[in-house]
Amino acid sequence: MGVQQGPAPACQPIRIESHLDGSSDRSLAEDVLDGLTRPFKELPPKHFYDSRGADLFDQICELPEYYQTRTERTILEERADELAELTAANELVELGSGTAAKTRVLLDALQAAGTLERYVPVDVTESMVRGCAEALVEEYPGLTVHGVIGDFERHLAHVPVAQGPRIVAFLGGTIGNFPPGSRRRFLREIGRLLGPEDHLLLGADLVKDPRVLQAAYDDSRGVTAEFNRNVLRVVNRELQAEFDPEDFEHVALFDEHHEWIEMRLRARRELTARVSALDMCVHFDAGEELRTEISAKFTRERLQGDLAAAGMELTHWLTDPDELFVLSVSRPAA
Ligand code: SAH
Ligand code: TRP
Repeated sequence: MGVQQGPAPACQPIRIESHLDGSSDRSLAEDVLDGLTRPFKELPPKHFYDSRGADLFDQICELPEYYQTRTERTILEERADELAELTAANELVELGSGTAAKTRVLLDALQAAGTLERYVPVDVTESMVRGCAEALVEEYPGLTVHGVIGDFERHLAHVPVAQGPRIVAFLGGTIGNFPPGSRRRFLREIGRLLGPEDHLLLGADLVKDPRVLQAAYDDSRGVTAEFNRNVLRVVNRELQAEFDPEDFEHVALFDEHHEWIEMRLRARRELTARVSALDMCVHFDAGEELRTEISAKFTRERLQGDLAAAGMELTHWLTDPDELFVLSVSRPAA
């Protein structure tokens, strides 16, 4: 009595592996050393997302100006059953999974179809991966979660081998945060996670009226501005730097030639900030800008071209009536 007979549980519902131990600090240090000594200063966007950054991003998703999240959710709600049938997926691998808020729509449909077995979230933010794993095994009885804490640009090889038909999801328009060349290279890496019967579900923001785009990245409440400045707080904390975030103004502009939004931080005055951990000082002229992100906007031709260059073929183009956002489905080209 009370003694468990038989074999230990065949598999724990949650398994989490981290590939960041120490190397995440190194990568921030390298990015700061490299990016803040260039003639045009630049930092990669992954450093926005500490726990405060993740909270601010959640607030962005709720903003009236930021149509992307609710539009993508609506498309998912309308097409999830169709996607479940089309893919018959046992598992969902999600890159940049965050809180997995929209993901539940897809998990619901896969569960209703009776195929759902495993969810594999991949994110740099440890608390996100752990938090969503715990919530999801409660919400979906029988689901196993294999979480991968890591940088999706460096650690995709740690995504476990597929156990059956798989969907790889990359939602939220995050694909737009890669410049065009790296975007194609990254899509090719994603292709390695897919077998011939598997599918890629890729959410992308579409080209539209520049005023609508501009507002989405420069909201009236200033949440996006605070999110943008958060990267300086991360640098201050992790590398003992002395930036005053208030010395920087949030800039979001639509580059009509490239059809991407650029996010920058512009120094309001001339300043020099010490970065103790790197034993260096960073100088900004008054008005000098630091680029923190691009967010490329897509047409069907552009996305199809990128996918084709990465060895994938577009099969479905699921969009909303106003064509604000697309959920594209593709698979490895025959
Ligand atoms: N998929 C969610 C969240 C999008 S925000 C949505 O659609 O709303 C982008 C997410 O990607 C964040 O959770 C962030 O932590 C993660 N992320 C950003 N850069 C990353 C990188 N290089 N490697 C892994 N995750 C990354
Ligand atoms: N992937 C999101 C996007 O490009 C990330 C994002 C939204 C973002 N708003 C932002 C990043 C503001 C930096 C600043 O839309």
